Amino acid sequence: MPSAIDIYRKKTRRSARIFEKSKRYHVNGVSHNIRFFKPYPFVTKSAKGKTISDVDGNRYTDYWMGHWSLILGHAASPVANLVKKQLPSCWMHGTVNEMTVSFSEVIQNAVPVAEKIRYVSTGTEATMYAVRTARAVTGKKIIAKIDGGWHGYTTDLLKSVNWPFEQPESRGLVDESHIISIPYNDLEKSIQILQTVKDDLAGVIIEPVLGGGGCIPATKEYLIGIQEFVHKNNSLFLLDEIVTGFRFSFGCIYPSMKLDPDIVTLGKIVGGGFPIGVICGKEDVMKTSNTSNHTKLDRTYIGGGTFSANPITMTSGRAMLQFLKKNSNQVYKKINSLGETARKEIAKTFDGKVAMTGMGSLFMTHFLEDGINEVRDASDAARCNTEILHRYHFEMIAKDGIFFLPGKLGAISYAHNKSDIKDVVEASSRFAASLK
Ligand SMILES: Cc1ncc(COP(=O)(O)O)c(C=O)c1O
Repeated sequence: MPSAIDIYRKKTRRSARIFEKSKRYHVNGVSHNIRFFKPYPFVTKSAKGKTISDVDGNRYTDYWMGHWSLILGHAASPVANLVKKQLPSCWMHGTVNEMTVSFSEVIQNAVPVAEKIRYVSTGTEATMYAVRTARAVTGKKIIAKIDGGWHGYTTDLLKSVNWPFEQPESRGLVDESHIISIPYNDLEKSIQILQTVKDDLAGVIIEPVLGGGGCIPATKEYLIGIQEFVHKNNSLFLLDEIVTGFRFSFGCIYPSMKLDPDIVTLGKIVGGGFPIGVICGKEDVMKTSNTSNHTKLDRTYIGGGTFSANPITMTSGRAMLQFLKKNSNQVYKKINSLGETARKEIAKTFDGKVAMTGMGSLFMTHFLEDGINEVRDASDAARCNTEILHRYHFEMIAKDGIFFLPGKLGAISYAHNKSDIKDVVEASSRFAASLK
């Protein structure tokens, strides 16, 4: 029986050649570190619906879905049709446009904290500006984030992302002293740490479901407890809903948890597949960034970006949200239930040897190691067997035509069906058998 690597190499020869060439031009051949996997990533030619196809003609049912941004699947027609219509009237103005206004109307109706909005082109920029706003509004410096929390590569927030959390994430970072990290879902320890910096605490930034850190939902008590502490100490509560916004229902997670964040960041899904980051905040908080009536001494610069609120992203984002709004029952009922089935059935195939995490249409498999029975935070996730996880995902790419970015959570789109989940379960079952 040939190995998964042999099968993969044989069926992706053209990808291998192109990727070799890519390495001549790009560091490690890629433009985002996580897109590389061994021995080399296949080179994509096209994608439609649930399927991504490579230059060798292989087709994969995709669970990476463009960094989890494509909730309707690839090249979804409700978005494509409106974008095509917009193209002849220009894709870049650098001036005010009407689609931004109507897009924001939809966001504001769905996300109550969005009393004022600023658009940028990436989630990374959105969290960077959220942090700056918190410091500006409070006059304090320290930002607390979660161990394993991922908010993009900004110098500020690139701390305690990967295990071991106490080591610096990268060379070239400065001023890490104004960022501290707290353990996810451990309210007591988190509060103990926050107490030590409360007088200079500008804010806490949290993902309600830890995405890159292991697809782990926060408990409601944890989020409420942190929020209470933060507000009692005149700091801001920043929720990063870049993954979770419009993922489980039409809107954000936070209203269902009765949370009252000061700023929410959005991205991914709300761009309809085009580049976006959104800073949504309460009027009182966001007014500091109004440069028209503040002097240099009391204003906060946020926003900026040549391509922010460009007509194509605004059109695609609005098309996406309009479709989701109109079809929210069908879309969310379907994908949430497929996610539920995936978590339940995959767990069964591994017979107690894995922990399934996730929520709604997001799911992740963790191969348990001795002494770990559940995955409640990114430390638990990192102490699971990530080598087997990569092998599991890679075998599915090579043998089953199923694509999870190795090591990452899977996202189900509206284009997936029950039979796709059944395929993943069957592939999991074959992999489980190979482990015995
Ligand atoms: C929770 C969260 N915040 C921020 C970001 C950064 O977004 P972007 O990659 O668009 O810069 C990501 C990206 O994966 C994310 O998952």
